Amino acid sequence: MRTIFSKYEDLLIDLKSKAPFKPDIALILGSGLGNFANSVDIKLTIPTSDINNYPVSSVEGHAGAIHFAEYHGKKLLLFQGRIHFYEGYNISQCLLPVQIIYSLGCRNLIITNAAGGINQYFKPGDLMLIKSFNALMIKKEVAQLIEPLNLDEKSFLQSYPSQKLTDLLFQASFEENFHLKEGLYWISKGPSYETPAEVEMMRRFGADAVGMSTAHEIIYATSLGIETIGISCITNFAAGISKEKLSHADVTETAGRVESMFEKFIKKTISLL
Ligand code: HPA
Repeated sequence: MRTIFSKYEDLLIDLKSKAPFKPDIALILGSGLGNFANSVDIKLTIPTSDINNYPVSSVEGHAGAIHFAEYHGKKLLLFQGRIHFYEGYNISQCLLPVQIIYSLGCRNLIITNAAGGINQYFKPGDLMLIKSFNALMIKKEVAQLIEPLNLDEKSFLQSYPSQKLTDLLFQASFEENFHLKEGLYWISKGPSYETPAEVEMMRRFGADAVGMSTAHEIIYATSLGIETIGISCITNFAAGISKEKLSHADVTETAGRVESMFEKFIKKTISLL
């Protein structure tokens, strides 16, 4: 375990003792997408408030719970509710779910989030596979993770996105007759949405979507050898892309609108694992 997680040793031992199984795949559920947990066969729910030392998410749409569930014969580990930098949490708190996933022996991970669309061909309700990402905004935090790595390990990000999970995702989108977008995700730390000028800069550097999570989760999970993919639900046009003012309510409203389609698509992907 990397040293930034040493204070969570007891928590990890406790969760291991409670886990009913070793999960085949984990999902970190983003803004407004947490209801996925209600559509699968839950075997055990642990509210994060019952876990000693677990950071509390203050964001609406982020009920904190860890679920062990089954779907189509696959064992799932679901994280409902996410911890963000903009809530004042540090990197080890934001990455605790990934450390838990790893500690429970799970080696497949789908990360979902809500994001603002920058690509002019994207519209609210689209789903985008995060093909690559720009994490320059969080390089300082990420440095704490990669510091203990040796030189040989420094090319680990070339394993992202997981080819295995990408293939399953595209097979699922083919079978569900669903058009999955692909693109570059830019992490912005918040706490506010971006200015139109910031979004314009991101667009010029090739960004297709912007959000406030996921990139550090991808980096850490991939460094641990977990097969990982990230999917953004485009919930709004990013600032300046349309004239409309952004609001968290619009983000959760769009996420809610596409929830059943998202659920179907992710379930298909899981069934193909
Ligand atoms: N910017 C940043 N994060 C977001 C957005 C956005 O436009 N939409 C949803 N999460």
